[in-house]
Amino acid sequence: MTKPNDLILRAALGQDVERTPVWVMRQAGRVLPEYRAVRAKAGSFKGLLFQPELAAEVTIQPVDLLGVDAAILFSDILVIPEAMGLEYRMDEGRGPSFEQTIRSEADLKKITTNGIEENLEYVFQTIRLIKQELGDRVPLIGFAGAPWTIFCYMVEGKGSKTFSMPRAMIMSNPELAHTLLQAITDATIIYLKAQIREGCQMIQLFDSWAGALNNDSYNTFALPYLKQICEAIQDVPKTVFSLGAFFSLEELSQLPCNTIGLDWHMDPRWARKVVGGEKTLQGNLDPAILYGDYSFIRLRTQEMLQKFGPNRHIANLGHGVYPDIHADKLKCFIDTVKEYQHSK
Ligand code: CP3
Repeated sequence: MTKPNDLILRAALGQDVERTPVWVMRQAGRVLPEYRAVRAKAGSFKGLLFQPELAAEVTIQPVDLLGVDAAILFSDILVIPEAMGLEYRMDEGRGPSFEQTIRSEADLKKITTNGIEENLEYVFQTIRLIKQELGDRVPLIGFAGAPWTIFCYMVEGKGSKTFSMPRAMIMSNPELAHTLLQAITDATIIYLKAQIREGCQMIQLFDSWAGALNNDSYNTFALPYLKQICEAIQDVPKTVFSLGAFFSLEELSQLPCNTIGLDWHMDPRWARKVVGGEKTLQGNLDPAILYGDYSFIRLRTQEMLQKFGPNRHIANLGHGVYPDIHADKLKCFIDTVKEYQHSK
């Protein structure tokens, strides 16, 4: 029996670590040829999600193939709107889309916060299979979309550069926006608690469209709901990753969470000053650096590690790895973190 690797949990809790732990957002995905093979077998992305054996297999692939210090559940943030009543499609090359959207009070009857656990049973089955296969080799990260980001998809109905419809709603009908955000929050709390009950050992909230807001609107329509979730989840370390929300970093650092995820726009030393010493920081190598050659990747990774320092840091990219990156380049980033020794 090898000793369980709990580096990432210790780093999240601010305890001493022998080295900086590392994992990668979207580590289970198209960057790995082995993922593409399983996905081809499943037929489609959603086909893969609905087959727990296959979803468990691709969750564990990056642990075996890349040597990361954590597995992240293979699922999607859009399973929550679907469990609430809005089914989504994932079309090749076009990304996600919803046939039904929420744009008026009348549309609220299309959704419910009842039956969330039953509707997401396939995810819990995946978690149970992962835990059987993975054991305690590395911790398993569970996740959900942040309410603001899920709201964006439920109102707009698809990805967008500007997310004009959700942004219009918060300005023109804030009551409706708050009602929908609260329903998403309630469903998300049920979902995350069940993920933890089934074996997830830390959780991350992805606020991918935080950057569509400003400081004022983020504080009103995003942060209070993140706070509710962080307060409701007591048992495991929590990470909040808000892409593009540099303008609210100070407020984010007041959340009752353990780790703040940084995107690559933020300088680690600046972020540390704003956040203070009480939280772990996660990130934040520019994912485009992995287009460079191996020595360039090593150098930039070492520079990043030096800026964060030896404690309270979980190494990651500043957003998900791009699918056209060569897996060996990603491995180079991971190996560089694992070999790095901080000067005393
Ligand atoms: O490895 C992991 O990080 C775990 C699995 C994971 C996926 N999606 C798998 C996936 C996680 C944590 C997510 C989160 C997610 N999903 C986010 C937040 C993170 C972020 O990137 O900001 C968002 C915004 C989504 C919604 C979503 N799902 C989009 C916009 C897309 C892209 C569509 C495309 O064609 O690129 C997806 C699909 C998706 N989710 C893929 C994967 C591996 C690619 C699907 C495929 O295999 O073709």
